[in-house]
Amino acid sequence: MSLAVVILAAGKGTRMKSALPKVLHTLAGKPMLAHVVEAAREVGAERIAVVYGHGGEQVPAALPGDDLQWALQAEQLGTGHAVAQAMPLLKEDVVLILYGDVPLISADTLKNFVGAVNEKTVALMTLTMSDPSGYGRILRDAAGNVTRIVEQKDASDEEKTVNEINTGILACPRSFLDKVLPALSSNNAQGEYYLTDVIAMAVNEGLAVDARQPQFAWEVDGVNDRVQLSRLERIYQGVQAEALMRAGVAMADPGRFDVRGIVTAGSDCFVDINAVFEGNVTLGNNVRIGPNCVIRDSQIGDDVVIEANSHIDGATIANACQIGPYARLRPGTSLADKAKIGNFVETKKATIGFGSKVNHLSYIGDAELGANVNVGAGTITCNYDGVNKFKTVMKDGAFIGSNSSLVAPLIIGAGATVGAGSTISKDIPDEQLGVARGRQRNTASWQRPVKQDAKKD
Ligand code: UD1
Ligand code: MG
Repeated sequence: MSLAVVILAAGKGTRMKSALPKVLHTLAGKPMLAHVVEAAREVGAERIAVVYGHGGEQVPAALPGDDLQWALQAEQLGTGHAVAQAMPLLKEDVVLILYGDVPLISADTLKNFVGAVNEKTVALMTLTMSDPSGYGRILRDAAGNVTRIVEQKDASDEEKTVNEINTGILACPRSFLDKVLPALSSNNAQGEYYLTDVIAMAVNEGLAVDARQPQFAWEVDGVNDRVQLSRLERIYQGVQAEALMRAGVAMADPGRFDVRGIVTAGSDCFVDINAVFEGNVTLGNNVRIGPNCVIRDSQIGDDVVIEANSHIDGATIANACQIGPYARLRPGTSLADKAKIGNFVETKKATIGFGSKVNHLSYIGDAELGANVNVGAGTITCNYDGVNKFKTVMKDGAFIGSNSSLVAPLIIGAGATVGAGSTISKDIPDEQLGVARGRQRNTASWQRPVKQDAKKD
């Protein structure tokens, strides 16, 4: 049976107290709505229709995707009315209804759930809660079959004692929804077209209602304010941390660990506190990451040590490299085995060869370093003339004295040496010494100035 997913995302989200539409607030660096779309794709939706309203075109603009269709609900007249706006877009046999502000619903739970639907059965996701107040309650007959849902505001005192609640997630044959949605009435306490009324209609039509619960309660938690969003963020991060620990990564504190993307890791890695991983990051075996590191879109090989407070973005790092503390690797940085980037060093579009070292206080940009190059403290590649970028090449075994400016384009030959404090703007042939600085002159007659009152003694 083919599947369509409708995601309701038209609500205002008043309690977020924000100019940004609620469903665009981020969880793990990505809009909540994008998490729901991802779950819909993973469960095999052939078509995904999003009902939007508040926030207007900002919402579709934030979520590009050829497989997404958008239905505008200009006025929020209720969840049943919202689903009806999407129906003309759908052709599939089964319709699954999700919510843009229920971001952690998992594809695993949904696969099981959608599997319950057929021409004669609707699936309803429910949850048993110790405090059900505020939610729609699931009513059952003496035989235990679901008969209808009653909203909190319409419920009698006795109905309010029911602690099985409606999560809102529902899957039905499309033909059934096509038939019953136009028949919904707004004759209730809130004057809204309730989607929940389709349950009693299903029973009337002779359909069975298969009520199923999610694998984890937090999967159906909705976000109304920033406090709830922050709780779901920590739950999400806890799940990511746990998966990595089960895959063999040790963590100083899984509570101070954040993934905003995808991390894969080999065995025996150690991640200290306050690590943030963004985009796609891969770690080899036995990688050690110190406290307060940010690592984005980078591949890191085996036995690499990244010391505290390093920022690594768009880098490829081979095996047994040492980085930081306080290093900044920018996009296009590539380290060969055993390379070393020390404290207060920035690299950008730089290839650093086997065993080469840039240990302190340097900027290496648009550069190609061979093997066993030693770059002294305070070396700067002058790669930019204000308009164009130029390349600096340091061949195998080159030795760059401290506090040198290397004015690109420039080639420093194999085994060549740069004298400390030089401004080098001409190529240096292999094995030669290049020095470009003022000569030292000592003045024998020099007298230091003396302070006025010191003179009086
Ligand atoms: C709904 C259910 C309730 C359930 C609860 C779970 C109905 C009538 N009630 O109640 O049984 O326990 O969710 O949280 O369905 N939305 C639109 N357009 C609208 C109205 C709502 O897009 O016209 C969206 C909202 O943005 C929100 C979701 O649908 O994401 C749920 O709407 P909300 O008003 O929060 O419904 P509840 O009263 O919480
Ligand atoms: Mg709600």
